[in-house]
Amino acid sequence: MRILGIETSCDETGVAIFDSKRGLLAHVLYSQAELHADYGGIVPELASRDHIRKLLPLLRKVLDQAGLHKRDIDGVAYTAGPGLIGALLVGAAVGRSLAWAWGKPALAVHHMEGHLLSPLLEADPPDFPFCALLVSGGHTMLIAVSRIGAYQVLGESLDDAVGEAFDKTAKLLGLGYPGGPALAKLAEQGNPDRFHFPRPMLDRPGLDFSFSGLKTYALNTLHENGPEAGADIARAFQDAVVETLTVKCRRALQQTGLKRLVVAGGVSANQALRERLKVMGAQENAQIYYPRLAFCTDNGAMIAFAGCQRLLAGEHAGLGFKAQARWPL
Ligand code: KG4
Ligand code: ZN
Repeated sequence: MRILGIETSCDETGVAIFDSKRGLLAHVLYSQAELHADYGGIVPELASRDHIRKLLPLLRKVLDQAGLHKRDIDGVAYTAGPGLIGALLVGAAVGRSLAWAWGKPALAVHHMEGHLLSPLLEADPPDFPFCALLVSGGHTMLIAVSRIGAYQVLGESLDDAVGEAFDKTAKLLGLGYPGGPALAKLAEQGNPDRFHFPRPMLDRPGLDFSFSGLKTYALNTLHENGPEAGADIARAFQDAVVETLTVKCRRALQQTGLKRLVVAGGVSANQALRERLKVMGAQENAQIYYPRLAFCTDNGAMIAFAGCQRLLAGEHAGLGFKAQARWPL
C-alpha cells in the first residue's frame, strides 16, 4: 500500500510517499523560513499563499523521485490540524481533491500524531508501548502510547509551547527567525554559571509544563545586564528548559513503568536536550528514540506514515472532513 502524505500546517510544505512494505519511497520539503524572516515570525496569510504556490510542483517532484504514477497511489493523507487554518486548508483541499479525482481514500491526519510516530520511520523503531515527549513550536506534551491510535496525554504546557518559548526568547535576544536553532547555537558560547533561571513547575507533582515565565525572566535579565549578556542568558534559558523537560520525562517513565521514550517535534533536534536525556535514559534503564534530524521538524513523511497506519487499521475520512486549527490529540 502506497500513501501520499501532505503537510502544510505551518511554514513547511512537505510531501512524501510511504509504502507499507518498502518504507519511505520519496520525500520533498520546502521551508518558508526565509519568507517570514523579515517579519520576525510567521505571517499566516503569506504562509497559505506560499503553500498554494509550492504544493503542486512538489507533488510532481515526489512522484518523479519515487518513479511512480498517480495510479500507483492507494490513498492521500493530509494534515487536518492543529495548525494555521489557512495553511491547513491548502493541504486539506489539495489532498481531498486528489483523493476524489483518483478515486482513493482521503486520510485526515493529526499533526502531532505525525510527530509522535515519526521515529517509527527509522531503522530501529520503538516497540509499543512507549512514552512520548512531543516538543514543537505549538505543543509540549507527554503521552503514553499503547498502540497506534491509543494516546493518553499525561501532561502538556499550560501556556507557551517549548519551541515558542525558544523562538520568543531568541527574538528578544535579537536572533532571527526561526529562533530555536539560533538560540541553541548562542547558548554554546554562554557561561553556565552566570545566571540561574527558575525550573517552572518542578516543585509541584504532575507532568504539566509552563514556559512563558522563562521568557519574562530572560527579558528582565537582559534589561539588567545589557545585550553583552546574550550568550549567558541563552545558556541559562536552555539549561532551565532542558532540565525541566528531563525531570518530567523521568517522572513520566517512573509513573508509567515504561522503558521506552520517543522524543519528537522541532525541539527534539536540540543537542543539549539529547545529551541530558541520554544520561537520564541510562539511569532509568530506558531506551530513547528520535526521528532522523530532518524529520524532527515538520515534514510530509510523518504524515504519509501516520496516514498509512490509519488506512491499514481500516480508517478513512470522508471528503467532507474539515481542517481544524485546534484539535485535541
Ligand atoms: O515541529 P516543528 O517543526 O513545528 C511545529 O509543529 O511547531 O517545530 C518548530 C519549533 C520551532 O519553535 C523551532 O524554533 C524549534 O522547533 N527548534 C528548536 C531547534 N530546532 C528547531 N528549538 C531548540 N533547539 C533546536 N535545535
Ligand atoms: Zn510540527
